[in-house]
Amino acid sequence: MLLSFSIFAFVFLRNANAENNFYPRYHLAPEHGWMNDPNGFCIFNNEYHLFYQYNPNSSYVPGIAHWGHAVSKDLFHWKHLPIAMYPDQWYDEGGVFSGSALVDNSTMYLYYTGNVNHPNETPNHNQYQAMAMSTDGINVVKYDNNPIINGTQLQPDLRDPKVWKHGDKYYMVLGNSFNDGKLGRALLYTSPDKINWEKASVLAESDGFLGYMFECPDFFEIDGYFVLLFSPQGIKPRGDKYRNLYQTGYLIGTFDYETNNFTVLSKFQEFDHGHDLYATQSEVDENGNRIVIAWFDMWDQNYPENAQGFTGQMTIPRVISVTNDLRLKQTPVQSISLARGRNTYSGRTKGGAVVVLEDNVGEVVVKAPRYRDFALFIESDSGSVKLSYDFKKGRVTLDRGGNDGVRRTSWRPQGKLVWKIYIDSSSIELFCGEGEVTFSSRFFPTGSVRVRLAPHSDAEEMIVNGMKRTVDITSANETTG
Ligand code: FRU
Repeated sequence: MLLSFSIFAFVFLRNANAENNFYPRYHLAPEHGWMNDPNGFCIFNNEYHLFYQYNPNSSYVPGIAHWGHAVSKDLFHWKHLPIAMYPDQWYDEGGVFSGSALVDNSTMYLYYTGNVNHPNETPNHNQYQAMAMSTDGINVVKYDNNPIINGTQLQPDLRDPKVWKHGDKYYMVLGNSFNDGKLGRALLYTSPDKINWEKASVLAESDGFLGYMFECPDFFEIDGYFVLLFSPQGIKPRGDKYRNLYQTGYLIGTFDYETNNFTVLSKFQEFDHGHDLYATQSEVDENGNRIVIAWFDMWDQNYPENAQGFTGQMTIPRVISVTNDLRLKQTPVQSISLARGRNTYSGRTKGGAVVVLEDNVGEVVVKAPRYRDFALFIESDSGSVKLSYDFKKGRVTLDRGGNDGVRRTSWRPQGKLVWKIYIDSSSIELFCGEGEVTFSSRFFPTGSVRVRLAPHSDAEEMIVNGMKRTVDITSANETTG
């Protein structure tokens, strides 16, 4: 009896596991410790690999970043792998910062930023671009002649390489700050051999409006356009827009591989309208879909999950496409069906009705007339999150209460009002219509989670499905942690 109790206690201490009510069931979260940006998202030997910014030593602070690592066949059933990279070299001793993967010649090449801190000096850090390789998808070896980009004149903020191949050349987009750290920009580098890189162009830069630093830039072709998806810091709030500490958004345009010139055709648009989505990374699946995943959190929040031994998780992976009016649409990847549990409720539903979710998780689909206001609450004993559609104003609001609870944006249903809502222990993702607008926000319920339609908000149809636990919560890092 005593023996089995102590084994249980051992596992409980090391993993932020199923016992913790904020720990997600079908979103990837760290076993324990701190997670931020997705890194090195790729398909290698028929499996998805996702690395991430990881502090194995604390869930309260980002600490000195490592690369955590997980693998999945379907983007939902994730298995944790041992830590892929430690901050153990002179050029990354202050953190193995964000980066990406390129699979070439059966090898996984990982590009990342080595951060070096200089306490009491100005600038107080330097950032080098480095490379590492894996041939088995588990063991990662850093390149002997790192760093591959020193970027002396571009310091101190030069980071987050995203690399791809086009023709027989290699391309890298990097986030940077210029004009004494007052303006952000995305730089394009090219290489004939993956190792020697030259600055080729400035893809886009801030004139002030887009802030002082571009983090985690990604640049790709989709539906005949090129998209620069990035996380600018320093955009000021304007009305309902840009209300988070930092933004993630995109510019859509055309790109000429001869001149390396990106011609922007759209305004800057926010990628998501909730409180907690940052630092996106994309990858193309075997059917040619562009899949985006993001950190489902935000810098400088103090969320109570950290007391449960973990901080941070990834969003549902989403397939994106470009609309005629040059916006990105997002829908959950199709394999979400593999995470779907049994149907627990379905039918025409009167305003005021309440459906209790099993295990505080679920997929809720509602259909309602398009010419009326509509609202529902996702509630627990500790408060509620209200999702509402204002027909007159043509906008959707997520209000999670408290200080700065409201996020809002314009949207009108194309046909019926259709909302798909994914709830997972401490998170809500709302997809409006065909994903023209999404909201991703964390919430921290107490007791059971219920969905309640607002008075007079009748649903022509409401479907509630359970969601399975898909992330393997047994630890890969028990012996190293
Ligand atoms: C974005 C970011 C990146 C950096 C990493 C450090 O969230 O600040 O720019 O590489 O996190 O963890």
